[in-house]
Amino acid sequence: MSELYTKKKILAPMVRAGRTPLRLLCLKYGADLVYTEEIVDKKLIEATRVVNEALGTIDYRNGDDIILRLAPEEKGKCILQIGTNSGEKAAKIAEIVGDDVAGIDVNMGCPKPFSIHCGMGAALLTQTEKIVGILTALKAAAKVPVTCKIRVLDNPEDTLKLVREIEKCGVVALGVHGRRRDERQPDRCRYEEIREVVKTIQSIPIIANGFSGEIERYEDIEKWRDAAGTSSIMIARKALSTPSIFRPEGVLDKYKDIENFLEFACQYDECYTMTKYVVQRILGGDQEHDPRGKALVAAGSVLQICKAFRMEDCYNKWRDDRKRKQSKKRARVDD
Ligand code: FNR
Repeated sequence: MSELYTKKKILAPMVRAGRTPLRLLCLKYGADLVYTEEIVDKKLIEATRVVNEALGTIDYRNGDDIILRLAPEEKGKCILQIGTNSGEKAAKIAEIVGDDVAGIDVNMGCPKPFSIHCGMGAALLTQTEKIVGILTALKAAAKVPVTCKIRVLDNPEDTLKLVREIEKCGVVALGVHGRRRDERQPDRCRYEEIREVVKTIQSIPIIANGFSGEIERYEDIEKWRDAAGTSSIMIARKALSTPSIFRPEGVLDKYKDIENFLEFACQYDECYTMTKYVVQRILGGDQEHDPRGKALVAAGSVLQICKAFRMEDCYNKWRDDRKRKQSKKRARVDD
């Protein structure tokens, strides 16, 4: 059994949100593993790997776009999730990232039109041969463990058939979102169907997913993991609105979560749109009522977001730190 995925509380993959600052914040609070946002294969294949000395990170970038930024604190704990419909491209990614990440996961659950249209995400769920092709090629090329994340199928028997095939591909764990392709929150999570997967697949840890609507306190995480009968559990929406859900000592006031998030966003030079997205999700309804929320809505830069929460000193501190390191590097090059 892979230790990496056993008895773990995990930050689930989330596009736009599961980037460096939120991952680091969740780890700081107590998450054991963190998934990146889904990155479509082509984007990583076209990216350039750069060691960013000013930040101490490994960056995969395409021009000014940071496709993936890995911080030293997440070494051994960050799982790269990819969106793909091709074993060849998946294998290429495995070669590119080597062991920069702790594992590689394939998204087989995304029901969004973009993914389905490109034959990725939940479109794979009915194409067992394709799944086997992708996982086998990825596993052969990867230096790190390979997993995938699925949704349950419309017919529970089909879910069990599928997971048996996935198990044979040599994945070290399997994430199961207990909703069908056409189901959304507030449809309930079909945890009984996840339990059946656990009974069927005993050689690898199963990671339950889909409980954010039920999780209010830290203790609820274990309660729902037990209800699903799995080894591990991954949390998406609740971790986005309340990252401190991973704190054994209890959740924090949302403004404290924002402050802690902004500290990482400034330290790791996160871009404006992604920073604003996460802060807005944490702030929720306060955007309309609270002066800080209104200032956030009007903000057009990370500095302005920081100003809305009286954190410009934090912004300036990390900006100056980067400048100092960059000019030191330039001086070394000139020598
Ligand atoms: C998601 N989800 C998702 N799933 C995935 O496999 N890859 C992804 O990139 C994303 N992106 C994403 C973005 C956002 C904003 C949300 C809310 C969700 C789905 C997510 O990982 C999870 O499966 C579901 O949200 C159900 O879990 P929760 O929210 O009940 O914990």
